[in-house]
Amino acid sequence: MILEDSTSLVDIHSHLVPGVDDGARHVPGVLDAVERMAVLGIRRMITTPHIDASLTLMPERLEKRLDEVTKAWEKARDAIHTQFPEVEYRRGHEVLVDMPEPDLADPRIRLAGTSFVLLEWPRLQVPPGTPRVVRHICDEGYRPIIAHPERYAGMVHKRELLHQWKEAGARLQVNYGSLVGRYGSEAQAVAWRIIGLGLADYLASDFHGQSRLKIYQKEAWSEIEQRDGHEALDLLCRVNPSRVLEDLEPLPVPAVSAPSLLLQRFRGIMARRERSAERET
Ligand SMILES: [Fe+2]
Repeated sequence: MILEDSTSLVDIHSHLVPGVDDGARHVPGVLDAVERMAVLGIRRMITTPHIDASLTLMPERLEKRLDEVTKAWEKARDAIHTQFPEVEYRRGHEVLVDMPEPDLADPRIRLAGTSFVLLEWPRLQVPPGTPRVVRHICDEGYRPIIAHPERYAGMVHKRELLHQWKEAGARLQVNYGSLVGRYGSEAQAVAWRIIGLGLADYLASDFHGQSRLKIYQKEAWSEIEQRDGHEALDLLCRVNPSRVLEDLEPLPVPAVSAPSLLLQRFRGIMARRERSAERET
């Protein structure tokens, strides 16, 4: 293992509540995913099914949805407790910001009931005014984390927006897979830019429990480690995500230099080849 204390890794973004979104469908699928993550050293996780921000303004529908997610989560939690007692399985949500002023008062919407809330923009596009949305959420007393900022369309041309989000009070969570080209070359380049500027606060799997797909944690680690990124890795994968569980601000993460574009492209081609091979098997 790469990190000294690799058993204490924490993952704050995945879709492992059975049957409630596009992630794992059944409890056995969740158990399989949890086992794979545990083998990688991830023994603490906050899993984050999708929820639309607009739902937070419809009390009855929200209650129904949170109830449905809670029941499914409890079922999986009990099975995990029996089979993998060493694994801590918490829950939150990934809030799709389809309106600018969500009501985040219910702790079940937030990460493990803390003040942190994981946000994503709709349809992998960044709508206008997102720094204002971030500021509003902070003013309400919550701590927004933007999920996979590297994945939104056109981000490769929006360097300034990364700084604007941070200045508005957002923390940034990069996906492991982005660093090795899992989501294409633009997401890969932006992921490395975020790491290279020292703007990333967390790395996470965003794992949807697909049995045939990699989690990409080992691959991303190896890339960062090769660039003398030991300290950054420890902060991004262990220290800062565990601080979420304690409701504490992330610590600053040192910048890690990006691989050359040529090397990134090579890794990206390999990752995409592997993906299509995995789909065909
Ligand atoms: Fe996600």
